[in-house]
Amino acid sequence: MLADLPKAARSPYVVAVAATKGGTGKTSIATALAVESARRGLDVLLVDADARQRSAALWAAAREASPRVPCKVFTPPPPESSTNPLLALRDLIGERDLVLLDAGGADSRALRAVLAVADLVLVPLRAGAFELWSLDDLAGILDALAVVRDAPPPVVLVLNQAPAGKLADEARALLATYVARPGWTLAEPVVRARVAWPRAGGSGLSPAEFDAPARADIDRLYDVLTRLGLPEPQETFE
Ligand SMILES: Nc1ncnc2c1ncn2[C@@H]1O[C@H](COP(=O)(O)OP(=O)(O)OP(=O)(O)O)[C@@H](O)[C@H]1O
Ligand SMILES: [Mg+2]
Repeated sequence: MLADLPKAARSPYVVAVAATKGGTGKTSIATALAVESARRGLDVLLVDADARQRSAALWAAAREASPRVPCKVFTPPPPESSTNPLLALRDLIGERDLVLLDAGGADSRALRAVLAVADLVLVPLRAGAFELWSLDDLAGILDALAVVRDAPPPVVLVLNQAPAGKLADEARALLATYVARPGWTLAEPVVRARVAWPRAGGSGLSPAEFDAPARADIDRLYDVLTRLGLPEPQETFE
């Protein structure tokens, strides 16, 4: 069976869900994608790289009580702990298929570390001028990281909490200048503002486990990421 072959030759595909602006939906989308990729059969690890807020860690604790698809989450040790988080993380990453990194919404050492190792950077963005302007900061950080990377990572922008109608269209037009940067794209599907997101998050669920319209948004986003390189589950042959 192909699945029995050792996975040693592979290293995980690393997606950083990142932005320098707070509250754009990074943790929401990272947790939803973690559930979705686990549901599709990938060996995925979600890393909470936001030691200050620990939103993904709190979500993971809530999820433990739920009988759904289990989802592995690395949660940072509390600041007073003597555990070296990098060593603990190294042991956990192993040869997984996919690692999702959820960094907090500000320029920080954690954000730069996450951007330094990412194979793909996914930037959730609300359709507002302040969010769009923050892309200049992100672009500057990625430029600065050129010294530690062979090549810049592809960056995919996704409009989150998108209102229906004109505002999303206006945001798309404004984003054109950013998408003109080499390697930057705007995901065609948007993630709509839906109550399923805050409701699901508080219960350790993905909105896809909550309602069908949110499930459709996540499916469409997942397909975009698959086309950009997100691994697909290995087939097994008898
Ligand atoms: N598509 C959506 N529809 C409705 N609410 C959403 C959507 N996406 C995220 N939210 C809500 O927006 C709020 C902020 O989301 P979240 O915490 O994921 O953002 P974040 O980018 O991780 O924030 P931070 O920068 O503080 O880490 C949460 O209350 C979340 O439930
Ligand atoms: Mg967050």
